[in-house]
Amino acid sequence: MAPITKISQILDGKCTDQKIAVRGWVYRKRESKELIFLLIRDSTGVIQCTVKKTSPAWNEAQKLTIESSLSLEGTVKEDKRAPGGYEINSELVNIIGLAETFPIAKDKSEEFIRDMRHLWLRSRKMNLVMKVRAEVLEATRKYFKQQNYTEVSPPMFISAAVEGGSTLFGLKYFDQDLYLTQSSQLYLEILIYSLENVYCIAPSFRAEKSRTIRHLTEYWHIEGEWPFADMDDLMKFEEGLMTHVCQTIANTCQKEFKELGADIEKLKAVQTPFPRITYQEAIEQLKPANPALTWGSDLGYEDEKVLADKFGKPFFVYDYPTAIKAFYCKTYREHPEIAMSVDMMVPRIGEISTGGAREENKDILIQRMREQGLKPEDYEWYLDLRRYGTVPHVGFGMGLERLLVWMLDLDNIIDAIPFPRTTRRFYP
Ligand code: 4AD
Ligand code: MG
Repeated sequence: MAPITKISQILDGKCTDQKIAVRGWVYRKRESKELIFLLIRDSTGVIQCTVKKTSPAWNEAQKLTIESSLSLEGTVKEDKRAPGGYEINSELVNIIGLAETFPIAKDKSEEFIRDMRHLWLRSRKMNLVMKVRAEVLEATRKYFKQQNYTEVSPPMFISAAVEGGSTLFGLKYFDQDLYLTQSSQLYLEILIYSLENVYCIAPSFRAEKSRTIRHLTEYWHIEGEWPFADMDDLMKFEEGLMTHVCQTIANTCQKEFKELGADIEKLKAVQTPFPRITYQEAIEQLKPANPALTWGSDLGYEDEKVLADKFGKPFFVYDYPTAIKAFYCKTYREHPEIAMSVDMMVPRIGEISTGGAREENKDILIQRMREQGLKPEDYEWYLDLRRYGTVPHVGFGMGLERLLVWMLDLDNIIDAIPFPRTTRRFYP
């Protein structure tokens, strides 16, 4: 058999008039009396293959069903009519695994396709989304590394809540009650005392009943934390990261965006600095659309969308009311009612990251815990960080899937992750 070639190489015009072999799966099949058209897919693309009745491949090609695996040998020809502009004139078909009738077909409902996730991941859409996801992860790691951050690995089993009890998943850990982590922030805070600038990319879990296009119960969280820094440093880092990732993807994922029909121009347009408005200004801008909003109200998904659509690009909202923020948020000494907390927002999704300065004063921190009904005894190790060499520090967490929903213009967050977990979905 001729050497195995990746389909993308053929589509890039590198094999024209050569005898090659491809290995993959049958994506589509159309048959007439004299000619069989096959679309074969591998991890890199889809190629049209023709089998003439006179070809020695005819008999095997006739047996092929959708999603059968095979190797196929033939000669590459340029052909404007073929999708992708090239086709293979097949001379040999070798069936590797003959597929039973494939359950996913054009007439199936979205619900059905979601139940067939393990098979739907072979679709072009999911193949492309997963590739972009991998590129986003790589670009993210590259930026952190360039900025001298060390990647660390925090635990997923934890003993005390980070983001409040209402979205906490509990579990039995032998005889003990533990939780699944909602954020690795508190563990990153431990590690800055050793490594200074740290980050992690890890799952976070939320017992989140909301069924929106932006909520999963298990999502991947990009989190950074570092000492000797303030809110301005934080926003500069976040906009730098976002710009680096958008520019990298605009460069490396052009094919994927084109095939997915996603708008790549919005990524190219991302430049520092990002607009910054205070929470107070956000409330004023939103009042006309939602007169019920007053200083102190939490911004809902609808409010954030209205605001974000006005900006039409990523921006920051900062200085939120302390009362709607977590216990660890640092507050202004002259204005304890305002917390140094900042959200990055994007059109259509609203919030994609939350970060801020952390309270470094032990006594204020204990007071904040009590105000929120938390027991300081449960956070002894966290308080130790303030006892031994406390330091001003900042950090943030960005939801990888929310970032992808925005980048790729996805209708729903479940398509940004291969195995989505929601209230109703956890199979396979
Ligand atoms: O705003 P959150 O709850 O902030 C934290 O967890 C901080 N401790 C992070 C930190 O400072 N290190 O979550 C951060 C981000 C959100 O902005 C959102 O992008 C994402 O995590 N997120 C979710 N993504 C998908 N599904 C959910 N249920 C999510 N909940 C939060
Ligand atoms: Mg948040």
